[in-house]
Order: sequence, then structure tokens, then C-alpha cells
Amino acid sequence: MRYRTLGTNGPQVSVVGFGAMTVAPVYGGVEERDATETLLAALDAGVTFVDTADIYGAGYSETLIGRTLEKRRDEYVLATKFGGNQDANGILIPGMGRPEYVRQALDASLSRLRTDHVDLYYLHRLDPTTPIEETAGALGELVQAGKIGGYGLSEVSARTLRRAHAVHPVRALQTEYSPFQRAPEDELIPACAELGIAFVAYSPLGRGLLGGQVRAADDLEAGDWRRNNPRFQGGNLERNVSLADRVATLAAEQGVTSAQLVLAWLVDRGALPIPGTRKAANARANAAAGDLALDASAFERLEEIVPPDAVAGAQGNESYLANLDTA
Ligand code: ATR
Repeated sequence: MRYRTLGTNGPQVSVVGFGAMTVAPVYGGVEERDATETLLAALDAGVTFVDTADIYGAGYSETLIGRTLEKRRDEYVLATKFGGNQDANGILIPGMGRPEYVRQALDASLSRLRTDHVDLYYLHRLDPTTPIEETAGALGELVQAGKIGGYGLSEVSARTLRRAHAVHPVRALQTEYSPFQRAPEDELIPACAELGIAFVAYSPLGRGLLGGQVRAADDLEAGDWRRNNPRFQGGNLERNVSLADRVATLAAEQGVTSAQLVLAWLVDRGALPIPGTRKAANARANAAAGDLALDASAFERLEEIVPPDAVAGAQGNESYLANLDTA
């Protein structure tokens, strides 16, 4: 595993992290024993960057991490998020960027995580009812107080990122980024490079499409969140699976799996991917991508096979898109 500094002066983190959304039942059910084993396998394989959020399984992901990794707290950099709660229509609940909410949400997360600090605390989605400066100010105070090592933003525009950074330096920006989601290359990635902010890629495997395990809508369990995502529906899914098949062929030629090729591509581009999985074997395979030295020509071929707008279907359904910051 290779390691990199998180942002300008943050801690060292493994170039491949672990996204702990799917240890909660979001992409289908998961046995607690498997989730625990997967988390431990990731750490044992050299992963030192664990990412969660208060909303993943309504606190379950954080609770599981607290329970499983409490005794190994000094071995990894812990990131969590607040401000992503939604109403019954999937729309963000207003007011989650307010300073008092931020402090209260952090205390609840720390208690579930069984720790006295997190290394990175993200605003999960911009609160349209609170100026970002107010939220950034509250987060800056939590840094000063030592309760968080630094703060991050997720799915915000470059404009919002700059406004927050002017109040208190942002440590990391987390956004969906993969061969199926190239939009961050336009403004966000250059802004992060300019400001010394780490760029963390969530859904690096296109929510599993690029891992090759999802081939048809019926592969998704009844309660799987992805059933509501346009990229996993009808003709879009067919088109995306055929793209993933071509990636699999290229990966096989390189002697790696599709997931490993895609993760290595992301690392090569300076991103920190945080793939999620419910399987210890996949956690180990993903961690191994943090050591791969593939030839640049493999990455060029990947970009030819999946050009920037190749994916079919929007990033999410209507309410998902409505919650993204487009300022
Ligand atoms: P997210 O950030 O939304 O969790 P992701 O990391 O792009 O999304 O993809 C997660 C999905 O990729 C999971 O459904 C996971 O399936 P398992 O839980 O069955 O492993 C799948 N995935 C993760 N690692 C994989 C690998 N090495 N090979 C194939 N599929 C993988």
C-alpha cells in the first residue's frame, strides 16, 4: 500500500481507503459478521482511511466501526459526515448546516464511534438554508477545540468550496468520481489542486457497476438503494454493463480485476478512492490496488473504452440531484 498526505498538512492516509456505507444495508442486506470481518480485512491489508456517515444505516455503520475498531483507533484515519438526513421525499431536512446542529451531530457520532475525535468531519450535503461561511466557521471552531482534525465538504460546487476555504481551510472534498462520473475534472479537481485540498472519490466503482457483479436489475435485492438510480434501470443498465464488460476485458489483459484497474486509474489521477464492499475478499483485492504499478497505456485504453460521457443515465434520481449544490 502507498500512503499520501491528506490535504496540505493532514495525516498520512492509504491511497485506497474504505467506504463504510455498504457495511450498512444500503446496497442490499449484510450480515454483521461479514461486515465486521470486512472492516478488519481492510485494515489488515494496509487501509488506514475509513469513511462513514451518520446516515449510513441510521447510525449503524458508525456503531459497527466503533464496536469493531475501537481498540485500533490509532491505526487509521477516521472520517465521518453530518447533514445528509432527508425527509420522506428524499429532500434534505433544512438547518443541518447551523452551528448548533453541527456540534450536536458530532457528539452523537463520537459516541457511536466510541472515540473522542474524528480526523475528518464532512458536511454531507450543502444546507441550502445556511450560508456556507457559518457552517465552515463552526467546523473551524471544532478543529481549534481538537474534536476534529480537519473538515471536508461533499458534492459542493467549486464556488462553495472556495467560500468555505476562505473562512477556514478545507482538508478534503468528497465527490462521486469514477470512469462513469468525470464531471469533477472540469472545476473541482483543479480547485482542490490549487488550494491544497485532498480529493476523495466516492462510488469509485460506479456503485458496483465497474466491479462487474451487477449484470441485471434482478441482481439487486428488493431494498437495494440502486434500484432507484437511473444507471441501474432498463436500457441504461444494459449499456453500462456492456461498458463494464469492455473494462473487464482490458483488466484481464493487464492481469488485474476491473475494480483494481479502475482504482489504480483513480490513484494515478491523484484521487483517494474509498470503495465499499461487504466482502472481506473484495476489501483485500481493493487494497491491493494501492500497490499496483500499471503502465500508462492501460489507463489511456481505459479512457478510450469509457470516454467522459459514456455512461447512460443520470447520477441519481430527481431528489438525489435536487440535493446537490449547483451554485
Ligand atoms: P459506494 O462508494 O457507493 O459504496 P462503489 O465503491 O463504487 O460504491 O461500489 C460499491 C459496490 O462495489 C458494492 O456493491 C460492492 O459489492 P460487494 O459488497 O458485493 O463487494 C462492489 N465491489 C466492491 N469491491 C469490489 C471488487 N473488488 N470486485 C467487484 N465488486 C466490488
